[in-house]
Amino acid sequence: RAIGSRRTLVHGAGLLVGTVHQEVEQACARFGGTVRRQEEAAGDICDGTFDLVLALSAPGRSTPGAEAVSAGLREEDGRPLEAIGDEGFVLAREGGVTVVLADTPAGLLYGLFQVVRLGESAFDRDRAAELHRPAVRRRMLDHWDNIDVHPVMGQVERGYSGGSIFWRDGGPRGDLTRVRAYARLLSASGVNAVAVNNVNVHATETRLLTDRLGDVADLAEVFRPYGIRVHLSVNFASPVVLGGLPTADPLDEGVRAWWAEAAGRVYEAIPDFGGFVVKADSEGQPGPFTYGRSHADGANMLAEALRPFDGVVNWRAFVYNHQQDWRDRSTDRARAAFDHFAPLDGEFHSNVIVQVKHGPMDFQVREPVSPVITAMPATRLAVEFQVTQEYTGQQRHVCYLGPMWSEVLGFRPWGPDAATVAAVAAGGSADGTAGGSPDGTGGAEGGGLVAVSNVGDDPYWTGHPLAQANLYAFGRLAWAPQADPLAVLDEWIDLTFVPLVSGDPEPLRRTLHAMMDGSWHSYERCSAPLGVGFMVRPGHHYGPDVDGYEYTPWGTYHFADRDGVGVDRTRASGTGFTGQYPQPWSEVYESPERCPDELLLFFHHVPYGHVLQSGSTVAQHIYDTHFAGAEEASESRRHWEKLGASGLVEPMLYARVLELLDEQVRSAEEWRDQINAYFHRKSGVPDALGRLIP
Ligand code: GCU
Repeated sequence: RAIGSRRTLVHGAGLLVGTVHQEVEQACARFGGTVRRQEEAAGDICDGTFDLVLALSAPGRSTPGAEAVSAGLREEDGRPLEAIGDEGFVLAREGGVTVVLADTPAGLLYGLFQVVRLGESAFDRDRAAELHRPAVRRRMLDHWDNIDVHPVMGQVERGYSGGSIFWRDGGPRGDLTRVRAYARLLSASGVNAVAVNNVNVHATETRLLTDRLGDVADLAEVFRPYGIRVHLSVNFASPVVLGGLPTADPLDEGVRAWWAEAAGRVYEAIPDFGGFVVKADSEGQPGPFTYGRSHADGANMLAEALRPFDGVVNWRAFVYNHQQDWRDRSTDRARAAFDHFAPLDGEFHSNVIVQVKHGPMDFQVREPVSPVITAMPATRLAVEFQVTQEYTGQQRHVCYLGPMWSEVLGFRPWGPDAATVAAVAAGGSADGTAGGSPDGTGGAEGGGLVAVSNVGDDPYWTGHPLAQANLYAFGRLAWAPQADPLAVLDEWIDLTFVPLVSGDPEPLRRTLHAMMDGSWHSYERCSAPLGVGFMVRPGHHYGPDVDGYEYTPWGTYHFADRDGVGVDRTRASGTGFTGQYPQPWSEVYESPERCPDELLLFFHHVPYGHVLQSGSTVAQHIYDTHFAGAEEASESRRHWEKLGASGLVEPMLYARVLELLDEQVRSAEEWRDQINAYFHRKSGVPDALGRLIP
């Protein structure tokens, strides 16, 4: 409304400037404002003819008004601002006009979305000029979407939002209207890259690289006007499966030639194609190990094929033995990524990005930061999050993950004065510091942030309407990792709900904050305690099953017995995993006294009577948190009911969320009763408050 009701000038040429113009035009059609497009520089853009000017500064051509707008803005080191930079923008008030100035069309588009976020306040008389730049250059979403409905994993692996927005019944969806709306949504959140198929590449999806490439090109066409590059997950065995070669050995000349040709064809169809995503030698996917080659050999071979076109390989570090003998207590899945990848540091080409899950296991509700993030200073690293909530309530529970990601991004794996995880992902771009090493210098260009998407063809985009906030928060935190996740949530609430509310939006804001702010911790209280992880039902991973994985080959155990619980990962007596961390964390995690409570059982096997830093014992903590977690679910439901009574949300949305909250309450009680009963029976420790434990 703020934009659509005003007189706007869009100034500059190019596809994305066209998008900016279109966006404003649509807003004006709704709210009565006007918009003019001007490709060439002419006159003073701040002469009062317009209320809002969105202008591109082209090299070698001075944009009238531009100097005035950016004057006064300085780089962090105090130098005068010379360039705004890729994707950045300046937002300023000049002569009674709100001006957005950018060096690139993408920057202009991001600037437009910032004005939308600000609403009326973008037109405040005394607004100070602001410079915005993304901290992380690569901000990517991976879709785990299948073209065919996979017999076990369905259309979207771990998707909780219906079918794929790209694929249906073995082919593309045809009508791409929704994909266009999605591109707009992602761009408004700050995402600039998308992988359109599952990392587990099945037979049909393998062919996206060749005879089905046209389908990918059609998607790229839709994403392009929003500044989003399309990537493809590829099957490492493609030369065999598609090319009929006898081998996929990365050092074989025929194989290399095959990939070079395949890449060439991709770029003919999609000139701005982003690159390949690869899950190799992991959970049954093919990879270089079959040929006695390393992951550097595999990744570099693909990188060479993509190099002439400026493409990258996102090579996943999620490599571990999923056929482990549970009797063998020396093998530790948490060690695997580091053991495989750290020795390869320095061997990867510069267009290889090693993509590391943020924790050493697998997107659990609580894990330490993966030590791989500290171990590869000469490699471009991307940190991977899971927006889709596989292990955090599967979009049936409200679980706002912004605070978790923010904690991970702000974590300093080399100690309090050294670089953050965000700086490693950002590489040299962020705040002048390069990632990958303790002092934040000397590292390679960053690999960015990547997340598994939670979007499907659900009318609300996400299966839980409130799970949209996670999508938005991922994009915003990738742009500005230091942003307060609760302020980001506030933005999302304002953009999503407030325009629909006729009266005072304050009660709505308050309710959503009450339900969402602490929901990650609440989910943590409901589920596996103290960082131990994996007490979920095998296969689908929803709901409690304490021993579900205990005697399986998956490498995820809690080792509870009558005396104690937890995994001994110490150097002194356990798997030695603590030794993969640099100081000070290797010492902190090694010590059961110093290890943070929330990670105690990740690193230590302790007796039920072990006293935590909180003063409680392990057994009592388990009981207390599970009673609290279930109570918090009921409280969340009460908040929503109260809001419903006020008539502030539309009935369909109200009913949908209420139904999900019913399930959340049921599920949280099931977690409470199973976990408490299990540990009560194992340990024989009574609850200090004498509550009923079944
Ligand atoms: C988890 C998840 C799988 C997925 C895998 C991955 O294990 O359950 O569905 O394929 O992560 O990240 O590759």
